[in-house]
This record gives sequence, structure tokens and C-alpha cells, in this order.
Amino acid sequence: MTFNIFISDSLSEEGIAPLKQAENVQITVKTNLTEEALLQEIGEYDALLVRSQTQVTRAVLEKGKKLKVVGRAGVGVDNIDLDAATEHGVLVVNAPDGNTNSAAEHTMAMLMSLARKIPQAYYSLKQQKWDRKSYVGVELKGKTLGIVGLGRIGAEVAYRAKGQRLKVLAYDPFLTEEKAEKMGIQYATLEEVLQQSDFITVHTPLLKATKHIINKAAFDQMKPGVQIINCARGGIIDEDALFQAIVHKKVAGAALDVFEEEPIQNFSLLELPEVIATPHLGASTIEAQENVAIDVSLDVLTILNGGPAKNPVNLPSLPAEIMNRIRPYFNLSEKLGSFVANLVKDPIEEVTVYFAGELNKWDVSPLTRNTVKGLLKLHLGDHVNDVNAPYFANKKGITVNEQKTSSSKGFTNLVTVEIKTKTGSATVAGTQLNGLGTRIVKVDSYSIDVIPSGNLILIRHKDQPGAIGRVGSLLAQFDVNIATMQVGRSDVGGDAIMMLTVDRPVEENVLKELKALADIYQVIPIEL
Ligand code: NAD
Ligand code: MLT
Repeated sequence: MTFNIFISDSLSEEGIAPLKQAENVQITVKTNLTEEALLQEIGEYDALLVRSQTQVTRAVLEKGKKLKVVGRAGVGVDNIDLDAATEHGVLVVNAPDGNTNSAAEHTMAMLMSLARKIPQAYYSLKQQKWDRKSYVGVELKGKTLGIVGLGRIGAEVAYRAKGQRLKVLAYDPFLTEEKAEKMGIQYATLEEVLQQSDFITVHTPLLKATKHIINKAAFDQMKPGVQIINCARGGIIDEDALFQAIVHKKVAGAALDVFEEEPIQNFSLLELPEVIATPHLGASTIEAQENVAIDVSLDVLTILNGGPAKNPVNLPSLPAEIMNRIRPYFNLSEKLGSFVANLVKDPIEEVTVYFAGELNKWDVSPLTRNTVKGLLKLHLGDHVNDVNAPYFANKKGITVNEQKTSSSKGFTNLVTVEIKTKTGSATVAGTQLNGLGTRIVKVDSYSIDVIPSGNLILIRHKDQPGAIGRVGSLLAQFDVNIATMQVGRSDVGGDAIMMLTVDRPVEENVLKELKALADIYQVIPIEL
């Protein structure tokens, strides 16, 4: 199978080498496309690779009928409609580590340029002026740097700032006093960062909660003469409020790498002499571009070839060690979900997946998601996948529970799926037998041993002599070959089930005749 990959922003040639070397991949590179042009192209592709310029909108994801994965060569995914990607079952992966150093180094370059007015002095000198008075700067040593957002880049900036003998204050919802102490910096609230800093640098993602986190009210709390750096995302700082704060001399200078609108259309902020700027160059180093393109290319290749994502954004990620442990149960969990969905007629309101035995020890959330995928596929079709299964379950009002239990009924591992509707419930349990593959070992209260694959027929009947024979004869009459048959009963002469595996799907009229046989209560065809 050949996968078509579309690259719509410029990526490092060395970085995409893994894609070029792959045998089953065709790459198309077209950059600077309008949304309209991208919409016309995207329908043909299995994967889309972008940096920050391409806007991966809902419309793009809707048109990308074959899209399985969007790879973002970089950290920020604010140019990708993640909700739409999840709804359409498109996995989004990024390259979170590859440009951390470059972004931190760029922030330090901006901080030092800002403090010493280097860009302004350079520009003046280029105009053939020898002006030494206008460009007197300030030292960093002994000043306070406030960091808002102490993630990968914020932390690297903190380490470098300490080398410049700055006192570092940081605010991050996940920062603890212990961690701050270990890093040799001071733990602070956002207010403390705003009120006490001589320089403030932001390193959060752009989220609803961080949009305009530095706004007029924030500037009002700052020391007069504060200097601001944004090498994270346009929109974290309210540009109008920054303009006013500079004009009113509250803010002495600002260094901006990112802007609310990119490419910039309104240059009024940049016309202020106190503002220095670069056109989103934080990650623009040879090393970072190679790193992020390699990371995202490898992840996209793995995903297209059916492997697990290393850096998923819209799917929780698990360490490789745990993924390797639970991988053998993926098939089982999906089959159990598909099987049990066939057993009820009314809408499913609740599903509980119980994990027992050795499965007890690991994070099994991907298996729960996979079970839900199997369950929903029956009615929603193949567009349900690992990414969008929880979304669709939620949309359909199905509560999903996951439970670990010690009761493995003698099996080394046991997955039990119980579903509830308004009127009833159904349960199926299965196991992964070492070397023998997957087995369904229980349906409701009946013990059986069936390979969950192919065309199955579940028949509920009364445990009476002749019932099995009548089913066998009728199927033979219609030339349906029975490959396996398992019978389970509650007690002699009571309710019982037959689980048949047949060599081909059975037509509606045959099912009708089966239902009409004596002592047969229910006939359910199941295709796995
Ligand atoms: P990260 O996820 O490692 O760190 C972000 C941190 O922000 C997290 O620790 C998070 O807890 C914190 N945070 C979230 N909400 C917050 C809030 N309301 N207040 C304070 N902190 C909050 O991300 P990172 O890799 O360090 O990247 C940080 C930013 O830098 C992102 O926006 C990314 O897109 C941007 N970036 C820009 C460039 C560039 O070229 N200019 C390059 C790389 C990354
Ligand atoms: C990022 O979020 O990684 C940066 O914006 C880098 C980029 O892709 O330009």
C-alpha cells in the first residue's frame, strides 16, 4: 500500500529524509497555498505535514477524507483545529522537544538585544550615524526576570537567565515550591511575577486561558520601565494594550517574535522605537528544523504503517514499555466491543470494561478506547477510530467506565465488557491465550471457548434433546457449513446458548427459519 503525504509548509530537506527513503510513501510539497487551494488538494492524501503557517481548519479536515494523521513540525498546535481533527478521527502529532533549545536561545538573544538596544543601534549605524547617547542600555545582572509558563522552553530560559545572574521568578500552574527550589529559582503567583519583574517573558501555549493573559490590567500591575518578551505565541500579549503601555511609558521596551496576526498586516506596534522584533524565528535554526522534521516524519511513518504515535496531541500517550505490554490485547478488546454491541437492541447507555489478571498492573486506557471503538463501529461504521471513539461515545450519551478487578477466574488475563441499555444488559468476556490467540470465554453467564473472528451465530435456546440437531440440519439444508459449535447452559433443561462459527454470512431468510425452529428463542448473526 502506498501512502500519499502532503507537505504544505517548508520543512528541512534532511528532516524529511525518513519519508523520502520509505518505500511505500509518495510525497507532494506545495507551500504558501491559500485555504482554497489546500482544500482542492487535500482529498488525495493520507497525511499532512505542516509548520505554523498552514491553517488546518475544520474545512480542511472535512475535505481530507483519507487523512489519518496531521504532523506538526514544531510545538504549538494552535494552527490546527484539534476538535475537528478528533471528530474526524485524524490523529495530530507534534514535535515537542526538537526546537526547545533554539526557542530558549532566541529568547535570550531577544532579552539581551532589548536590554542593550542592539537592533536600534545597529539600524542607526547602518544609516551612517554615530549616536552613542540614544542607545544606553541596562545590565541584566541583579535584575528580576519573570517567566510566565515554565514548561520546556520556560525552564531552559530560566537556566540560561541564571547564568546572566538574573533573579528568576516563575509562574506556572504546575510549578511547585520544591521544583522551583531545585531549579534555583523563585516560585511565584502571576501577580507576583507581574509586580516584581524588570523583564517578563511568556512561554505558555496560546489557549483560551492564556489569550491576552498580559492585558491592560496586567500592565497596570507592572513596575514602570518593565520590558516584555514574547517568543511563544501571538495573542498571549494583548498588542493594543502593549501599544498603549509603551506610549504611556509604563513599558520601556518589548521584544516580539510572534504576533496576533502572522504575517503582520498592522505595523503600528513595530513603528515604536521601543519595540524590537523578528518574524517568528524562534525555531529557525538548522538544528531545530532538522530535529522537528525528523521527529514528525518518523512519527507519521509509524502511524501510517499501523504503529503507535510517539507524540500524539489529541490522544493520550503512554510510555513505549506499557504500550508493548498491552499491544497483544488490542485485537481482543476491539472484538469484544463489536461482539457485545450485537447482543442488545436498545441504545447502549453505559459500557464498563473490567480488566483482570496481569492487565491489572498497567494503564489500559487505550484498550478501553479500543473496546468503545469496536462497540460503536457496529452502528457508526469504519470512520470510528481510536482518536474519535470517546468523542462519539460522549455524543451518543454513552457513559464509559474502566475498572480493574482481581477476579480473573483462573485466566492469566481477562477482559470483560458489560453494556447496559434502558431495558437490559449484556456481558462478554475474553482472554489472550499464550501462543493460541484470542478467545471469547463467556457470554452473559455461559462459559464458552470461541475464536472471535469471522461469521458467528449466537442462538439462545431451551436445553432440549434435538435442538442442536435441528439447527445443524437446517443450516445444512441451505448449504451453510458449520466450522465450530460451542454450547453453554445454565442447568439441565434450562436456558442455553449455541455459538456457531459458519463459513459464510447467513442470509436473512435462513436466519428467519432458524428463529422459527422449536425451542429457539433468539438468533443473532455476528460478523467479526
Ligand atoms: P510546554 O508545554 O513545555 O510549556 C508550556 C507551559 O505553559 C506548561 O508548563 C504549562 O503548564 C504552562 N501554562 C499553561 N497555561 C498557563 C497559564 N495560564 N499560566 C502560566 N503557565 C501556563 O511548551 P514549550 O515547548 O515550552 O512551548 C511554549 C510555547 O512556545 C508554545 O506556545 C510554543 O508554541 C511556543 N514556541 C514558539 C517558538 C517560536 O518559534 N517562537 C518555538 C517553539 C515553541
Ligand atoms: C513552534 O510552536 O514550534 C514554533 O512556532 C516553531 C515553528 O514552527 O515555527
